[in-house]
Amino acid sequence: MIKLGERIQEGDWKAEKHVPVIECPDLVKVNELFEVKVSIGKEIGHPNTTEHHISWISLYFHPQDEKFTYQVGHFEFSAHGESVEGANKGPVYTQHEVKTALKISKPGTLYALALCNIHGLWQSAKEVKI
Ligand SMILES: [Fe+2]
Repeated sequence: MIKLGERIQEGDWKAEKHVPVIECPDLVKVNELFEVKVSIGKEIGHPNTTEHHISWISLYFHPQDEKFTYQVGHFEFSAHGESVEGANKGPVYTQHEVKTALKISKPGTLYALALCNIHGLWQSAKEVKI
């Protein structure tokens, strides 16, 4: 059986519009809040239409030398122009980007996972040092 992880796609976000871009400091202080922004399509825009959009982004943290990965947050993007008038006639579209803040007590790796409703799961990672 193929593991779910093998279905997750990755790539260079500068060349592939689906790859999440994680923006935060490379180096942070122990237990001090820092901002993390995750977006899709920073270099090449991803569509945001009723038919084709990013449904959600999940952010995880894996502390160095630990066994398990922690979920930091899950962010749903619910509006993509749907309306009783039809597809793309609605008054609102949620942009597929999120800013949050966290503090960590150990160095580790942040992982972002995103779902495009027609192109599947995409991931990226960023190391954070203390
Ligand atoms: Fe897509």
